[in-house]
Amino acid sequence: MKSLKELIEIAYRKNILIPAFNVVYLPMTRVICETLKEMETFGFVEVSRIDVEKFFAESFEKVSEEYYKWADPYYVKLHLDHIPVIDEDNKIVNWEYLIKEGIKLGYHSVMIDGSRLPLNKNIECTKKVVELAHSKGVLVEGELGAVFGHESHIPISYDELFLSKIGFTNPEEAEIFVKETGIDLLSVAIGNIHGPIVNSLRDKEKISAKLDISHLKILKEKTNIPLVLHGGSGIKINYIKEAIQNGITKINIATEIRQLYEKIIKNNPKDIDLALYKVKEKIIELIELFGIKGSIHILYKESS
Ligand code: G3H
Ligand code: ZN
Repeated sequence: MKSLKELIEIAYRKNILIPAFNVVYLPMTRVICETLKEMETFGFVEVSRIDVEKFFAESFEKVSEEYYKWADPYYVKLHLDHIPVIDEDNKIVNWEYLIKEGIKLGYHSVMIDGSRLPLNKNIECTKKVVELAHSKGVLVEGELGAVFGHESHIPISYDELFLSKIGFTNPEEAEIFVKETGIDLLSVAIGNIHGPIVNSLRDKEKISAKLDISHLKILKEKTNIPLVLHGGSGIKINYIKEAIQNGITKINIATEIRQLYEKIIKNNPKDIDLALYKVKEKIIELIELFGIKGSIHILYKESS
């Protein structure tokens, strides 16, 4: 069996997108695992600190237990998403403890999110995570730039943000960041934003974000490693397709499946099966839209 590192590198070289679905509610784990396998698509089950603390993933341990119960690791890997150094409420997080916990629980890759720190501090923490994770054969995703949306308040409108490129990943910094840290994947900000997580906005339809493809092209050239698109819900497909051709290898999806699930359980809290069925339908729809049905065959066939 090929290693996760090899599979991701092949995906990067062959422009094949790897989807990562967030477990916002614990029972989603099984559906994500089963649907990826049914579609013969290589992907991730992922869970972030937010999914545990502000939603209903329950714990990293429970998600890992569910994953190891239902997943076929040939098709699906387990990713620890967004472990922030400073979180969306400006709180300092014990990131080292959480990363170590994830590694112990069998997560195949981990994300350290030092994006709210100055470059040198972000490098320092990310490097530390790379040392911890690589020694156990676990991959690391870092983040540079600001993928807004999790914060309760962003001072400007989306159009202003896109035009002014506020928070966009700086290409020169990205080059240094990748070289100094030794990360395997880099999450970039190129117009993508997260779906809102504050209570009062959770049901609101997410803005359809645009992507600055010229900026992405520069980032690809400077970094030369697989790039990650956070805030993957609701981005128009032609932007995503262009992004796949220019270095985006992993896409994170949370809001799109969460809102569908919540719409059902809001009317009938007991209707979990129907809510999960809606999640499944959405995953199938996205896999078809991204053109990655059967991706497993290309990834495993290709020599690394
Ligand atoms: O880390 C998770 C995501 O980036 C998901 O973003 O909720 O906008 O799909 P989204
Ligand atoms: Zn994210």
